Amino acid sequence: MPATPWYEQYRTGIASIDHMHEEIYTLVNALYDDVLAKAPIVTSRPKIAKLTQLSLTHFDEEEADMKRTGYPDTATHSAAHQVFRDQLAGIQAQLKEGKQVTGDTLEIVRNYLTQHAKIHDMKLAKHLAASQGAKTAKG
Ligand SMILES: [Fe+2]
Ligand SMILES: [Fe+2]
Repeated sequence: MPATPWYEQYRTGIASIDHMHEEIYTLVNALYDDVLAKAPIVTSRPKIAKLTQLSLTHFDEEEADMKRTGYPDTATHSAAHQVFRDQLAGIQAQLKEGKQVTGDTLEIVRNYLTQHAKIHDMKLAKHLAASQGAKTAKG
């Protein structure tokens, strides 16, 4: 484990968002460990299920924050979430077919998450901080 986790640079400053991101990134790291250890599918399946559940909840929360605060880039940001929802569905389908998640797939997931945080979530966080609209921003 590096001294500074790789996701530190993607902190948005909104506690509710950062907490969920950290959980999601931690699961992606755990899945990488599975790939390196050549773990069986049965080991990765619950992590993918948890990653999917957390991501869907997180996207719903961000989209609720956007709606409540009249965020002007809601459509673009939500469309980016949909791309990831589809990716997760694809990974789950692969696991169902008996194919283990690969390092390449996880690299795509990690790149997606970091780019998404940098481009979309940082912008949303600024908006929420300005409008004090995040549900649990003070938590
Ligand atoms: Fe987002
Ligand atoms: Fe996010």
